[in-house]
Amino acid sequence: MKIALGCDHGGYELKEKVKKHLTEKGYEVTDFGCHSTESVNYPVYGKAVGHAVADKEADLGIVICGTGIGIGIAANKVKGVRAALCMNTTMARLTKEHNNANVLAMGARMLGDVLALEIVDEFLTAEFQGGRHAERIAMLED
Ligand code: RB5
Repeated sequence: MKIALGCDHGGYELKEKVKKHLTEKGYEVTDFGCHSTESVNYPVYGKAVGHAVADKEADLGIVICGTGIGIGIAANKVKGVRAALCMNTTMARLTKEHNNANVLAMGARMLGDVLALEIVDEFLTAEFQGGRHAERIAMLED
């Protein structure tokens, strides 16, 4: 499975940990930056990951900033993206099962590293339930 990763300076250190975690688990990771803790603009990285997912260069995306909010909004500006800010593993599971979210947004300043990696694992392994949820997702694209 191909995963697109993106972050701003607030998410850089967690993004590096997520990248290592995913690589060790055998995922194919594309890192869209940023590449240091130097201050950058989160819309650049959120949209880059959103386009990679929308264009099917990646199966799923993960975006990280300080809160997860700004970079998640940025990813959601790309048509076809359903980015979900998740604070716990239940949200990560349910947003795959019900929303078929294709981008996970996390706030590095809001989460401990262990929880963040558990959220990642839950998001990547949970499965969309389809049915009534598919009809609702179709309505998002109207
Ligand atoms: C950067 O300081 C911070 O604003 C950003 O990482 C994010 O939290 C925005 O939503």
